Amino acid sequence: MNIKIVLLLVLFTGTIFFAQVMHSPNGKATLVFKLTEKGEPTYQFSLGNKEVIKQSKLGLELKELEALKEGFTVERIDSSLTDETWNPVWGEVKSIRNNYKELAVILTQLSTKRQIIIRFRLYDEGLGFRYEFPIQDNLKYFTVAEEKTEFFLTGDHKTFWIPGDYDTNEYAYTTSKISAVDAYFGKTADEIGFKTLIAPNAVQTPLMMKTDDGLYINIHEAALVDYSAMNLVIDQKSFKLTSHLVPDKLGNKGYLQTPCKTPWRTIIAAEKAADILASKLILNLNEPCKLEETSWIKPTKYVGIWWEMHVGKSTWNYSDINNVKLNLTDWKNLNPNGKHGATTERTKQYIDFAAKHGLDGVLVEGWNIGWEDWWGYGKEEVFDFLTPYPDFNVEELQKYAEQKGVKIIMHHETSASVSNYERRMDEAYNFMKKHGYDAVKTGYVGRIIPRSEYHDSQWMVNHYVRVAEKTAKYHIMLDAHEPVRPTGLHRTYPNWLACEAARGNEFNAWSEGNKPEHETILPFTRLMGGPMDYTPGIFQIKLNYYKDGKKEQVHTTLAKQLALYVTLYSPLQMAADLPENYERFPDAFKFIEDVAVDWDDTKILEAEPGDYLTIARKEKNKDNWFIGAITDENSRATTIALDFLDADKNYIAIIYTDGDDAHYDSDPMSYQINSYVVTNKSDLKLKLACGGGAAISLRPATIEDIKNLKKL
Ligand code: NOJ
Ligand code: CA
Repeated sequence: MNIKIVLLLVLFTGTIFFAQVMHSPNGKATLVFKLTEKGEPTYQFSLGNKEVIKQSKLGLELKELEALKEGFTVERIDSSLTDETWNPVWGEVKSIRNNYKELAVILTQLSTKRQIIIRFRLYDEGLGFRYEFPIQDNLKYFTVAEEKTEFFLTGDHKTFWIPGDYDTNEYAYTTSKISAVDAYFGKTADEIGFKTLIAPNAVQTPLMMKTDDGLYINIHEAALVDYSAMNLVIDQKSFKLTSHLVPDKLGNKGYLQTPCKTPWRTIIAAEKAADILASKLILNLNEPCKLEETSWIKPTKYVGIWWEMHVGKSTWNYSDINNVKLNLTDWKNLNPNGKHGATTERTKQYIDFAAKHGLDGVLVEGWNIGWEDWWGYGKEEVFDFLTPYPDFNVEELQKYAEQKGVKIIMHHETSASVSNYERRMDEAYNFMKKHGYDAVKTGYVGRIIPRSEYHDSQWMVNHYVRVAEKTAKYHIMLDAHEPVRPTGLHRTYPNWLACEAARGNEFNAWSEGNKPEHETILPFTRLMGGPMDYTPGIFQIKLNYYKDGKKEQVHTTLAKQLALYVTLYSPLQMAADLPENYERFPDAFKFIEDVAVDWDDTKILEAEPGDYLTIARKEKNKDNWFIGAITDENSRATTIALDFLDADKNYIAIIYTDGDDAHYDSDPMSYQINSYVVTNKSDLKLKLACGGGAAISLRPATIEDIKNLKKL
């Protein structure tokens, strides 16, 4: 092992304090750990000759016990080098190198004799560190009052932020200087009406930043288990960020018992935005896969009885009663409203469509009783996850789907009545297995029951992990909507295919929607923690198609909806529009049919958060490549060198681009499709409309293709 750690013993006003310097494997990233003269642990992180995080303090405040912030002495220091490669069950790349230097600083607080370990892992592109609390006589149980981890920024960086809301992450991103962040959007806490839900001046992670001299910095966390999520409070004068854990409603931030540890705090830094997206630091800091057998886990493309409810064409409810408290058996006395989406007939249409186009699954929402009062305040017993509405025949559909080789995807909207779900989970998963379901989409809309909790507090963090573990036992794949933001736990639980945990495409159906820049920011923020079930693929962009005067619309072109299958990584991708809309545009739908959901390789070709993104990915175990290019509200011309293709092959490139007059607002559905023969010497010239995109599929060309098509 060749680790050069410089240990400095400095005499300072009679006190000995330590400074440790450690360089990353390639020498470019540097960590400096120091104890101040008051015995406060601090760290500093730089990349090359640029300081990323200035000297910043580390520590925690405890309830009823002395804070673990100062008065420490260094007991011992352990260091090591790791260089290993592992293969994810599914992912953006086939294999991942985990190469870091580790520094574990074992500290004793002189006044209390309590011991903590601060463990650092230094990668070439970033730093992870966590607090560990070894088992010890005078620290058995404790309650965290606050974690006081600082990230002292070097200046007033540009940042892409959402407010530190304890209950939701479904916000549009605001781009501003750190000094201009206003988590209350110009309102007072009283005006905003949810003052207990947002920490003043706090933002959520992953927090993406860009310095004035062009360095990109991302702060997040990895392996969030048995702890609450971390928001960051901003000191707008000094540009210091300090951790603010999501409390429960008693104000407590975490109940811990030794031996235990916090999640990793992560800092990724790069000169090029693309390198932030290529980093695997967060995944590397998570525990390896805990599942013994994973062959049942399948990346999935699906359609669903879903968008039609969001656009108001059909309903989740079976009856016309809304928000009335019902018993779980009361539906028998209700009259059908005539618009129920999840009928046996409609599900068969979706199954037929999926079978015809080679899609794996059909999600069905609104199949089970309870939707009449799912928003109700007293909703403890809202759903049983077992009883279908009378017009949804589980057994008949099971047979039908099986014949057609399609999987129906279960929907468990808990409406945040989590105690109800916890009681019913086993029965619900048994019901699923009995009826041939092997994937579930969960949902947590509303305020959490038990009412002592927030979506992002410790108890709920443990709930989401419990669901991942339990579904894995039943060989069920999981997609969680409205959970805490992901932190790479899909490495440990690869059955946990995706989460929502951000503002998805659905907002375009019933709100002012997502601005064209939204999808250029998501990969740098929310997706840093893991795949998102964004639900792309809306072809009918303007929603007055469903109802005169309906002003909502998707804020992209149709071609950009295609590109999102490549730029928004997920092993679970929905073709979110209605089958009848896809049938109107079969040539464009071909891209969704063809695009892969699992990859051997990924190349981030161009990227600038908030502006544009181009990614190429190679399909798992195939020679096919797919490219997605997107832009924000500005049009864009770009040239893509196809030099990543195999040198000895000709490929056919099918290029789906915006039409000449396309524009996300005035002409969003104008597109064109052109095919060429290309090689690794070809350059692709792309023109993206305002709010537009391009999607390209590449496969080895046949002799026929070479004869018939123009060469680029
Ligand atoms: C919100 C989810 O994000 C959405 O996908 C779902 O359709 C509704 N909740 C109803 O469960
Ligand atoms: Ca949602």
